[in-house]
Amino acid sequence: MSPLWSFKAFMAGTGAEGAESAAAPINGISIDTRSLQPGDAYFAIQGDVHDGHKFVPQAFEKGASIAVVSKPCEGEGPKALVPDVLAAMGSLAAAARARSKARIAAVTGSVGKTSSKQALQLALGASGQVHVSDKSYNNHWGVPLSLARLPQEAEFAVFEIGMNHPGEITPLVKLVRPHAALITIVAPVHIGFFKSLDEIAAAKAEIFDGLEPDGTAVLNRDNDYFDYLSAQAKAGGAGRIISFGAHEAADMRLNMLAQHDGYSCVSARLLGEETLYKLGAPGRHMVLNSLGVLGVVEALGADLALAALALAGMQPEAGRGGRSILGLRGGTAVLIDESYNANPASMRAALSLLAAARPGAGGRRIAVLGDMLELGDAAERLHAELADELGGIDKLFACGPHMAALWAKVPAGARGIYAENSSQLADALCESVASGDVVMIKGSLGSRMGLLAEALKARYPAPEPRQ
Ligand SMILES: Nc1ncnc2c1ncn2[C@@H]1O[C@H](COP(=O)(O)OP(=O)(O)OP(=O)(O)O)[C@@H](O)[C@H]1O
Ligand SMILES: [Mg+2]
Repeated sequence: MSPLWSFKAFMAGTGAEGAESAAAPINGISIDTRSLQPGDAYFAIQGDVHDGHKFVPQAFEKGASIAVVSKPCEGEGPKALVPDVLAAMGSLAAAARARSKARIAAVTGSVGKTSSKQALQLALGASGQVHVSDKSYNNHWGVPLSLARLPQEAEFAVFEIGMNHPGEITPLVKLVRPHAALITIVAPVHIGFFKSLDEIAAAKAEIFDGLEPDGTAVLNRDNDYFDYLSAQAKAGGAGRIISFGAHEAADMRLNMLAQHDGYSCVSARLLGEETLYKLGAPGRHMVLNSLGVLGVVEALGADLALAALALAGMQPEAGRGGRSILGLRGGTAVLIDESYNANPASMRAALSLLAAARPGAGGRRIAVLGDMLELGDAAERLHAELADELGGIDKLFACGPHMAALWAKVPAGARGIYAENSSQLADALCESVASGDVVMIKGSLGSRMGLLAEALKARYPAPEPRQ
């Protein structure tokens, strides 16, 4: 196989000077020596905490083919000199886009970007070679890094694009130049950084600033901002709009779904064709994401039937709905780990997923919730409003100052325990879990709810499978 970048194309792409050749074929791009693989080109980026130039010696020790630097630094190996390392990675990303013949999608939205990207990897993979962003690499360094990694041979590519502030998406999508732009949903996430939900919708609509002429916008028909986003897409030059959702006018329309433990069976009407498919990740929200994904598949000209079939292979990612069995004395309980992050939209989705779960004999549906962060002045209200979503839940365990607002609204019979932070909740939660229970843990990353999932798994290891 040809390398990701020839030395010549790499130097031209970055605009770098100095190096005569690379130490090895350039087969990847890295900005972090902890995950650097032999053959990667190392970009010494100045981060918030560390200056990447300090790690150039480690990069070469781990087999970097070349280091891109903006000043003299230690380390023995070929160094490509540029005025600004992040800008050079952006230039290389633009070169990757210019040489690519891939059909490209950009995914943004308040929630569901990574889940949709992961589903697209499977769905498009049924039609050809796909490249996707790693993890949630969706910001001012994540997008250029992901694009610079695009192999020339890829037939499809999917890039996640995120934002915390207005104006962040525009330069990123102009780099990606997608043929299809998917907006999963507009909801109050990071609303502390915005004046209103309208302002969030306007910032998401920046995704059309980089859409290729006559490209396709894939939009959520159920969302209040559908009309607004359609108008913005057309104003941005979109040639086609594909809508998805439960709305009867949706092009990719949900008819019915059956939720099972760990997966869903979906009956949908895809551009007028009745279709049945299985989705290997649980929750109605994931089903709605999958309809958007199929909209992108259609927009990029990949095979829709093969794509729908491939969705059966989806697996929830770490902290996003993965299930484990807890081996208790006298039985088992189920842990649903949603601890990766939380905001009002994903909290509601996770509570509805828990409400749809079937506990074992005598078991309860237990929600363990930590604070949702970055909600600014709306925080108290948005926490308290979750009380309306607790209908299908038997017990609530909660922690964090904002969750006190929800706790105050919960009837005594549904109260488990409240603590100031997650570590103070750990012992009480472990003591309370009983055979048959389904326990769902969720909160913002900063609320450190992951440690509760770890505590439960450590205390109650999964039973050995019977032979
Ligand atoms: N359509 C949806 N509606 C509500 N919640 C969703 C939806 N899709 C995913 N979620 C939930 O939102 C959380 C984050 O999902 P995911 O990682 O896919 O989002 P993201 O947009 O990539 O987030 P980030 O901005 O952190 O990268 C998970 O808990 C997931 O279950
Ligand atoms: Mg993400």
